[in-house]
Amino acid sequence: MDKPRIVLGVSGGIAAYKACELLRRLTESGHEVRVIPTASALHFVGEATWSALSGNPVSTAVWEGVHQVPHVRIGQSADLVVVAPATADILAKAAHGLADDLLTNTLLTARCPVVFAPAMHTEMWEHPATQENVATLRRRGALVIDPAVGRLTGVDTGKGRLPEPVEIFETCRRILVGGAGRAGKAADLAGRHVVISAGGTREPLDPVRFLGNRSSGKQGYALARTAIARGARVTLVAANTELPDPAGADVVRVTTARQLREAVLKVAAEADAVVMAAAVADFRPAHYAEGKIKKKDGEEPAPLELVRNPDILAELSADRPHPGQVVVGFAAETDDVLANGHTKLARKGCDLLVVNEVGEHKAFGSEENEAVILGADGDEIPVPYGPKEALADAVWDCVTPRL
Ligand code: CTP
Repeated sequence: MDKPRIVLGVSGGIAAYKACELLRRLTESGHEVRVIPTASALHFVGEATWSALSGNPVSTAVWEGVHQVPHVRIGQSADLVVVAPATADILAKAAHGLADDLLTNTLLTARCPVVFAPAMHTEMWEHPATQENVATLRRRGALVIDPAVGRLTGVDTGKGRLPEPVEIFETCRRILVGGAGRAGKAADLAGRHVVISAGGTREPLDPVRFLGNRSSGKQGYALARTAIARGARVTLVAANTELPDPAGADVVRVTTARQLREAVLKVAAEADAVVMAAAVADFRPAHYAEGKIKKKDGEEPAPLELVRNPDILAELSADRPHPGQVVVGFAAETDDVLANGHTKLARKGCDLLVVNEVGEHKAFGSEENEAVILGADGDEIPVPYGPKEALADAVWDCVTPRL
């Protein structure tokens, strides 16, 4: 089988150097990559680098190798076009259909999925012109990844940073493995805002100790990445995770159950779907010790008094901001998995409950998962053992028809 053909468009921003790592990941994972820089991109990284790393000739203009009609052929034969970094200028040109160099011509002739990873200063990203161009591109089916927040060129920080190359790579890979059939499906969350909680809460006992759980956050992050690949705007409320931010997600970090509740309720008000994948502590210590709790010679420790935390999933299900909002819960069970799942679904009042069996080697921290998705309407969909992303996609497959 031919290798999948990827066009890597690089426009003229300082983040162009990060596209070298993206290129390396794409070629090393078995893709045929053709790099098309804009003329300004070559001010940042030269032609020799793109050519050596891709193993292919590099040109910016339509006037080279004219007999091969590159301005039409490259776009037509691509399986995926990814533009990283995408400047405000290339977004504007793409939105308006301009075609004054090889990259813009390729964007017009491509009929495959197109991904833009914008990087620019916050002011440029927030400018209504850029925002309208982004909205136009998204409406037409392109995947425009929201820039990350962080250090920009110089000393300033803000929204506008290129997401980590590994995360852009993951987004591209997910779109490609979905295949042609998936491409149509890929945008089934376009225009939707989804909120996902991930990780496990920590309930402090004193300044150095907490009650926590073993959730790694991987399932929640997989939900975020797959939702982004399907076109959604994603807010990820992350409790104590150590995973890289998924490219394009708005990440809100929290520690305790009460902070998680506040963060989720704030963003859920205008969300189309809320997925509670976080392991939320049901109880917290009744008293927080301002100083470290010390052991005392000859004395047994005082019993730990606990109080209930609010049930966020039940609250979200009961007080929906609009009737069309879909609420999804997760349940980790050790025994009577299905029976407990059905009872929990009814008790929580959510639309879907993803039930999985947990144990020493199951679910927590692993890359794989197995579950049954239960619907309030009686649906019972088993998802076989496989990558957490496959389970995430199965969850979105259940969410989209309910929206
Ligand atoms: N959850 C929540 N708020 C809590 C506890 C749990 O929103 N205080 C959510 C979790 O995010 C998950 C679902 O509820 O989506 C199920 O969590 P689980 O701990 O299994 O449910 P519990 O109600 O705590 O049931 P159990 O008695 O089995 O612990």
